[in-house]
Amino acid sequence: MSDHTLPLSPAHLAAFGPDFVWGVATSAFQIEGASTEDGRGASIWDTFCAQPGKIADGSDGSVACDHYHRLEADLDLIAGLGVDAYRFSVAWPRVQPLGSGDWNPPGLAFYDRLVDGLLARGIRPYLTLNHWDLPEALQQQGGWAARATVDHFVAYARGIARHFAGRVVSIATHNEPWVVAILGNETGIFAPGIQDRAVAMQVAHHLLLSHGKALQALRVDGCAAELGIVLNLAPIHAASEAPEDLAAARLSDGRLLRWFMDPLFRGAYPTDVLEHLGADAPQVLPGDLELICQPMDFLGVNYYSRSVVGAAGLVEAKSLGNPLTDMDWEIYPAGLDELLQRLHRDYPLPAVYITENGAAFADQCHDGRVRDTARVDYLARHLEASANAILAGVPLRGYMVWSLLDNFEWASGYLKRFGIVHVDYATQQRTLKDSALWYRDFLHGQHERSAA
Ligand code: FCB
Repeated sequence: MSDHTLPLSPAHLAAFGPDFVWGVATSAFQIEGASTEDGRGASIWDTFCAQPGKIADGSDGSVACDHYHRLEADLDLIAGLGVDAYRFSVAWPRVQPLGSGDWNPPGLAFYDRLVDGLLARGIRPYLTLNHWDLPEALQQQGGWAARATVDHFVAYARGIARHFAGRVVSIATHNEPWVVAILGNETGIFAPGIQDRAVAMQVAHHLLLSHGKALQALRVDGCAAELGIVLNLAPIHAASEAPEDLAAARLSDGRLLRWFMDPLFRGAYPTDVLEHLGADAPQVLPGDLELICQPMDFLGVNYYSRSVVGAAGLVEAKSLGNPLTDMDWEIYPAGLDELLQRLHRDYPLPAVYITENGAAFADQCHDGRVRDTARVDYLARHLEASANAILAGVPLRGYMVWSLLDNFEWASGYLKRFGIVHVDYATQQRTLKDSALWYRDFLHGQHERSAA
């Protein structure tokens, strides 16, 4: 364990301030299970998991953490950590099985119990509308590549915002549109498993458009929740100072960060990326960019690592000399501070939340104890980087650990453990890892400090 682990310096601890929002995060498909119960419709991830070879351990989301049936106990677990907020997602096919038309009352009732259970425990609900589990029925009609999906999403967003009016403090439209577009539709390693760059870029455009249209509609409806979007962002470093490596890194930054940040905050796509895409650039109708560029109450940033890119492609993290997580992602806390300061410099930012940050490690549970010192170290160093960003003037307002529970890590199945709470999938036993105990004590200290 490094000497950075504990404690953070008094100046770092004080940087967060009394109103800073501390939380933990999950998503519906990764924890709920009960994938065919109480009228839930199929999502593209159910379909994808059923295709041989797509998920590393051949698993699916049918049981996951069985959270659907263990809601009350899991809410108590969250409350026990002393967090201010819980970030979760609504499974669109659970509440509107076909993605349009009829709503599913038992599905809504589950989220009523979730939201009301959080409020009863003094925890603020942070809701995400789309954490990747598009109703399969909509994929059959073209998925996010079809412009009609935009309006189905807006109707879904309005229904949910109205249903939870006055109860959820925050609504994010999409989680990581880059992942949905690129991993889902260009490389095809995620659902729906399409490999077509033109489709991917049309998907990216429709996700952004649906975000803007949903925000506009929710504001017309008088929605009082804070509204925003969650992006996966990272600093992209060039493999060398050679012009071809610098150009490759610049393009990679364009596709990951500027492709999303520029339209959201400046109302235009980056011209270098448009040029690079050529015929694969999306069809953008007049007025689309004005719709995408809606004022936002917050930007959610998910941060895990940086990327190093050269003309030959992505440089393997293992060659960079820093420790890696179990995902083989480089541990690079300074990148979080660097990223946040760059966003602050380049864009007119609203409140920023780190909506995900965390790490997978090959944890072992022995006698009811998980000594995940590497995760404690990871979290502490990223909190330090967050504090540095605040001290540099970044309007950072909250931080959520990914994840509350070990869960279904998409194409990696159950092989990668991101939780601060260990899940024994055979028994569904939850065990607080040392990182959960550390986070709980840390939050206790922060709350004491604010009360003083
Ligand atoms: C993010 C996802 C989240 C989780 C983490 C590890 O890309 O939003 O669901 O899988 O990565």
